Amino acid sequence: MIQQSSRIIQYFKKLGSRLFHFRKKNLQLILISSLIFIVTTSLISYQSETIQSNLKIIKGNYFDSLFLRIYDESNNDLSDLQLEDPDLYLDSKLKRLLKQKKQYINQEDDDYWVLDTEIKDTKIQIPTYYQNSQSKPITQPFDPRFTLGIYYHYLNQQLKINSNVVVPFNWYDWVDLSDLNKHILAPISQKANCSILDARWDNHVYVKEKEKNRKLEEEWKKQHEEHKENQKRQDRIEVENPNQFCLNELPESYKEHSKYPGFNVFENPGKTTLEKAILAGKSYLYSFAPPPESIVFLTREGSYEVGIDSNKPLLSNNLPEIYYQNSGSKLDVLKEFTRLTKAHKPNTHRVLNDYLLNIPEESFKFKPDEIINQLESKTLSKNELSYLNSLKYSKFKVENGGPPKYFRESRLLDSVLGDHYDWRFFNGLNVGTKEHSLTLHRLIRTWLSFTRKNGIMTWIAHGSLLSWYWNGIAFPWDNDIDVQVPIMDLHKLSLNYNQTLIVEDPEDGFGRYFLDCGTFITLREKGNGNNNIDARFIDIDTGLYIDITALSESDTPTPEEYARTLSEDLKKLDGWYWKKNAFLKIYNCRDNHFSSHSDLSPLIKTLVEGEVGYIPQKYTNVLTKEYKNGLTNKGHSGYIFLPKVRLWLKEEDLYYFLKDRSKWVDYYTPNKDGIMKSISYKLSNEEIQKIQNPEGNPYKKITDMKLKDSEKEQAMNLGYDDLIELFKNDDLLIMKLSTTSFTKFHEDEIIKLLHDKSTYKMMKEHKDFTPLNYEPYLYKLRKHGDSYESKVDRFLQLELAYNEEQEQN
Ligand SMILES: *[C@@H]1O[C@H](CO)[C@@H](O)[C@H](O)[C@H]1NC(C)=O
Ligand SMILES: *[C@@H]1O[C@H](CO)[C@@H](O)[C@H](O)[C@H]1NC(C)=O
Repeated sequence: MIQQSSRIIQYFKKLGSRLFHFRKKNLQLILISSLIFIVTTSLISYQSETIQSNLKIIKGNYFDSLFLRIYDESNNDLSDLQLEDPDLYLDSKLKRLLKQKKQYINQEDDDYWVLDTEIKDTKIQIPTYYQNSQSKPITQPFDPRFTLGIYYHYLNQQLKINSNVVVPFNWYDWVDLSDLNKHILAPISQKANCSILDARWDNHVYVKEKEKNRKLEEEWKKQHEEHKENQKRQDRIEVENPNQFCLNELPESYKEHSKYPGFNVFENPGKTTLEKAILAGKSYLYSFAPPPESIVFLTREGSYEVGIDSNKPLLSNNLPEIYYQNSGSKLDVLKEFTRLTKAHKPNTHRVLNDYLLNIPEESFKFKPDEIINQLESKTLSKNELSYLNSLKYSKFKVENGGPPKYFRESRLLDSVLGDHYDWRFFNGLNVGTKEHSLTLHRLIRTWLSFTRKNGIMTWIAHGSLLSWYWNGIAFPWDNDIDVQVPIMDLHKLSLNYNQTLIVEDPEDGFGRYFLDCGTFITLREKGNGNNNIDARFIDIDTGLYIDITALSESDTPTPEEYARTLSEDLKKLDGWYWKKNAFLKIYNCRDNHFSSHSDLSPLIKTLVEGEVGYIPQKYTNVLTKEYKNGLTNKGHSGYIFLPKVRLWLKEEDLYYFLKDRSKWVDYYTPNKDGIMKSISYKLSNEEIQKIQNPEGNPYKKITDMKLKDSEKEQAMNLGYDDLIELFKNDDLLIMKLSTTSFTKFHEDEIIKLLHDKSTYKMMKEHKDFTPLNYEPYLYKLRKHGDSYESKVDRFLQLELAYNEEQEQN
């Protein structure tokens, strides 16, 4: 992890004093810029002609002339602005660049549509098999707009009758299980069975292949007298016989679908191949996974919560038919949602909205015996009973031989990246892809929205807090998100929301997340190390998750840095860690990270990736404790932070830009027919080989091109006009334009915080930042040029083909 926070702080402090200085002189300008922002956001969508004519009307004062200079396309001279407000200068130049690029590039190749993140394409057609009494197909495609539209409608109807709504639920309608189609549809005689998930042979091949490569490489090294340590990962063989996790025949009592594949996974499959891991998770969801305990539907103001009363899927639970009878064959998920929120006020009585949130000290004290006694003395709801059982089981396991690992990730034979995914919802590796970053953005936003609207205190932690600090958004190289809660908030989560499905506000997107709280909540020390994570908030489309850890008083040895401040009497005591920690008001998670009450509380309201959230009051203390010894590192993980654009940019990109700028600019400037030059701005593989591997080792891995320290410095100091050339790269341009207004807000905020100025007013008056990135489901759909209606057709045709083949046989 990064170890440069003191540098970070210095950087922002410097920037702050510069800006404050600048600001005082230019208060008027600041006011004007924000005004411009409001006016232009409403104007910018008009044709430029409309803008021109509007401009004529409001000509006259300073504001107008500034406005004119920025948005009058014929005026190319922004040089005054460059001095007065370089940031605004850069933005307006980049907006012009975007416009130019759009003119050149052919509509279909253009990727700039991702910049328009407003949710559109919300209307779909109800499949005909719900409209008449024709027989239902066996499979149907997953589309969150269909499922959510139907459920919002149903919820609206039910709330008229009863405030405690229960609904049917089957995973089939909430996750894309189409990989199972051919197995579901296959005639009995041709069905696959659990042996399709047997990875023992794959493992055999994999281990042999690795061994072979290692030997070849060693020989080569011997020849060349290289003695570099060959890091070989021990390939532990934990590949299981499929009968350990899979049944060919599903027991009758589990059956909710009309047909099943010949294999039914009831347990995580252990180490396996990527394809088998995907199939196993989907098979589990199709055949065995119990439905969630409840569903929480988020809205802008609050949420609705419903219980589950059956496991019936939409194909047989009659909800689509009810919709069709009431509303006809067209379905607009946003319209259904608006109807629902207009007719029934969502639950808002638990919403946390204070600027400062005091965390009671009691929130860090967990007394399982008291909770068990309380629960045992009353009649219990289903949730309470399940929680009580977990508490007792947890106590028992902790006292007798240590608890087993609770969470299960996808374990792959040839990649450790599977560890970033919950095995049940795994849908393939996507770390580093667009889908990955789109998903993480929604994950954190929905977690913050869900917890805040349901009275759960939480704050971002570790790498997520550090990345927030820099520019308010995640590090581009980060694979995971970390949040913390006080132990009593984990208690609330476990009691009320364990195994709950949380549905994103559809005005923002169609994400669905599963909250899973680990059993062993009574263990507050590291124990056997099996369960460092307390709970997970899992994206059910990909299996990516947020790690939730709880801070609590515990018997973990008091860290030296805190123990120093103990009174002599307490210092003398051997052990007694619980007492010492409680006295010091320091709390730890099961991975032994400590924080003190005064560092955490009160939490301060902020925006994280545009969503309202909270951070520890003394976040700089928290960060310096974890990432101390400001190294002179000017970058991290192959990225460099450029303060002027408030973004982490790839070192490799900067490498090519700095080495040969004209090549870079040429490459990213389409000619007037919209065709990109065929040259590449990158070095060829041979050229890179020559630089990185002069000795010609055929086994040497080629890495990204790296900058020297002086070049890094050069990159960080690029001027505004240099940056405009750098952002000719389409991906960089998109990244900049989609984040610029939010990162600006964050910069103003962090500068205030660093100068001990309150951000109360900023947080009260901030604009509503809708998601900065495109909706992941709609992104995929648009990328593939697909639609719900054509998916329905394809599914029906597939079934037809299977039926015909069967009749022929
Ligand atoms: C399972 O499928 C494999 C491969 O198709 C076949 O060889 C085996 O006989 C099948 N086993 C059972 C129990 O049907
Ligand atoms: C959450 O639910 C799961 C599944 O029922 C259960 O195994 C686990 O123990 C529960 N966790 C807590 C803290 O109650």
